[in-house]
Amino acid sequence: MSSAIENIEIRKILDSRGNATVEIDITTESGFGRVAAPSGASTGALEVVAFPEAGIDKLINAFPERVKPELVGINAEEIVLVDDILKKIDGTDNLSSLGGNVTVAISLAVAKAAASSHDIPLYLFLGGKLKNEIPYPLGNMINGGAHAGKNAPDIQEFLVVPVGAQNISEAVFANSSVHKRIGELIKVKDTRFTGGKGDEGGWAPNLSNYDALNIQSRACEEISDETGINVRPSLDLAPSALWDGSKYVYSREGVSRDTGEQIEFIEEIIDTYKMFFVEDPLREDDFEGFSELTRKVGDKCIICGDDIFVTNSNILSEGIARGAANAIIIKPNQIGTLSDTYQTVQLAKNNNYIPVVSHRSGETTDETIAHLAVAFGAPLIKTGAIGGERIAKLNELIRIEEQMTDPKMATF
Ligand code: PGA
Ligand code: ZN
Repeated sequence: MSSAIENIEIRKILDSRGNATVEIDITTESGFGRVAAPSGASTGALEVVAFPEAGIDKLINAFPERVKPELVGINAEEIVLVDDILKKIDGTDNLSSLGGNVTVAISLAVAKAAASSHDIPLYLFLGGKLKNEIPYPLGNMINGGAHAGKNAPDIQEFLVVPVGAQNISEAVFANSSVHKRIGELIKVKDTRFTGGKGDEGGWAPNLSNYDALNIQSRACEEISDETGINVRPSLDLAPSALWDGSKYVYSREGVSRDTGEQIEFIEEIIDTYKMFFVEDPLREDDFEGFSELTRKVGDKCIICGDDIFVTNSNILSEGIARGAANAIIIKPNQIGTLSDTYQTVQLAKNNNYIPVVSHRSGETTDETIAHLAVAFGAPLIKTGAIGGERIAKLNELIRIEEQMTDPKMATF
């Protein structure tokens, strides 16, 4: 049984927004790994460049000469070596030549092929001795900002976490119940609502931020009462998109907030709605604001950095030194390789930052992040609540839980 790479293929496929992305197939003598890369809409400025600067088609044409010969023959278990080779082929410091989406898809597909060569699932191959823990799913309920139309709320994502769930099946069905209930409550509030959804499968209503917050919180309470599973509200503000250089402009409310006012606004929302998790409360370069907010509310709410850290261990180190946030979003294509992703997760865990493995707004039916979340021991996974490209990951978690001998939900 050999896990030497025998073949590697690349193809252009659709993502959930109808845009092009890449998929990689890796074949070894006794294994196979296929991974497709996602894409963001509200990307962090310091992410690696997602697609090759020359364009996907040119890269695909050059792939058989430029990439394939460098990887064929390498042992698929040597993931760090593979990632080093990819960086060398790329030759830039932001992966703009090959594209971080191409490198991440190769890196993850190699790991999958290695796992498959040993006939074990990826989460086991990467996780070694597992704690047998399943992450709680952060489900996306209402979409705004860059993920929805112009009359939707300014806040990008209204999320929920079923913290009282006993297993993943209970958790994903609790989330889908909240999603349904929120749809019903929106229709009561706005009788002209046509049922539209945003990029991540949450509803895209014509609602103010506060109306959306009230509906989110009411649905959490109702479903918690009806099912006995405690469901808590959460948010991703993605406010770099709202920042005009001196203020956060909430155009849906006709209100602007400077940094101090933004921090007060977030504190008030966390208190009023008992938020469990708030992602990117401030713009991506405001370490000081993140530190101040974490100092003030970090004992009662998870303050998570996405665009600020971009899954980069060097940037996370700066955040740790300054006490900015207490959790980090992990998106492998923000950093471009599995080994760099792993390094960031380890740094986070060693410093008590909660790693939250996440999808992107543009997704495919690839399910790899479900395996990564389990392998990394991430207590939370952010991957929507409904929609084909979102349930691909959730249903995979249900299968993973079924395979585990003694599964339990993660601990924070
Ligand atoms: P994305 O953002 O559009 O960059 O994928 C999604 C998120 O912030 O969770
Ligand atoms: Zn985010």
